[in-house]
Amino acid sequence: MKAILARKYGSPDVLTLEEIDQPTPGDNQVLVKVHAAATNPSNWHRMEGKISMLRKVYGDPQPTDHAMGGDCTGTVVAVGKNVTRFAVGDAVFGAAKGAFAEYAIAAEKNLVHKPENISFVDAAAIPTGGLTALQGLRNHGRITSGQRVLIIGASGGVGTYAVQIAKSFHAHVTAVCSTRNIEMVKRIGADEVIDYTQQDWDGAGPYDLILDMVGDRPFDVYVKNLTPGGRMVSVGALGMDMMAFMAKMGAYKASQEEEKVFSYTAQFNTDDLSTLAQLMASGEVKSVIDRRFPLEETAAAMAMQGSKQICGKVVITI
Ligand SMILES: NC(=O)c1ccc[n+]([C@@H]2O[C@H](COP(=O)([O-])OP(=O)(O)OC[C@H]3O[C@@H](n4cnc5c(N)ncnc54)[C@H](OP(=O)(O)O)[C@@H]3O)[C@@H](O)[C@H]2O)c1
Repeated sequence: MKAILARKYGSPDVLTLEEIDQPTPGDNQVLVKVHAAATNPSNWHRMEGKISMLRKVYGDPQPTDHAMGGDCTGTVVAVGKNVTRFAVGDAVFGAAKGAFAEYAIAAEKNLVHKPENISFVDAAAIPTGGLTALQGLRNHGRITSGQRVLIIGASGGVGTYAVQIAKSFHAHVTAVCSTRNIEMVKRIGADEVIDYTQQDWDGAGPYDLILDMVGDRPFDVYVKNLTPGGRMVSVGALGMDMMAFMAKMGAYKASQEEEKVFSYTAQFNTDDLSTLAQLMASGEVKSVIDRRFPLEETAAAMAMQGSKQICGKVVITI
């Protein structure tokens, strides 16, 4: 089968399209014929190999695990002997190891059935961005109806789902993005938009919940824009170096008594993937697709991911 591999760390030109053996599912695994896969910042960090923690997982000084890709959708072609939720022929979406390929292996718990009224491209786009938005708003932000919610980085892979999921909780959403994305974030449901090239969100609040994908301000600035009892959920660091951001978060957490700033790593689980499937099936959440690339052009898709300029998601079709 054809697969994209990364045998070295570096820029997108390390990616190679190779012919490799089709994998065989273990007892609790599913073999998926991949129809579409999405890029994510995590794929970029894995490819670059600049984060020392990730090198411990993928190999150092060069990757020992060459597979690339995770979020995907496709058709089940084989199941392990303990798999109960899926049968050959089922259309599924979720996470599969090495999803930038014609076939990929997924743990049963990391997949759910794809709603029939959702395209393979739209389903491939949602897993990581959707789960991150859902878990950030609901589990860590404790979002409730009528709250004023500020979403910083609203036009990206997490932000576009966060705007729509916050609206599904009947929150009042203010989205922060640049000029070119104003119409898009309004279209997906933002009640108000702050164009960060023209206006600072600092001082425009206060907000009951701030979901931040950018991370470029001191944490005190977020906290002073919260209502009493408000929560700031820090998702990512589009606006700064990831290692510097992690050091900043560690120092802030160590110095605070009252916890108003929350950080987390999104987790795959069947219940939350099912919630996303329902939100998509009902039309409350839609994927915003910036661009599609064929598998052969995965390096170009990853270059776009690295630009931090994606409007919604980039999808690789196979
Ligand atoms: N905690 C977790 O478990 C978790 C999970 C997934 C992702 N993350 C992290 O969360 C962050 C966002 O991920 P993502 O998938 O949404 O990234 P993404 O799709 O690459 O985000 C791209 C978007 O970010 C916007 N952007 C860039 N700089 C901005 C700024 N200064 N202010 C406002 N918007 C800005 C861009 O819009 P404009 O052109 O309009 O600026 C673009 O639309 C990343 O740092 C990622 O590593 C964390």
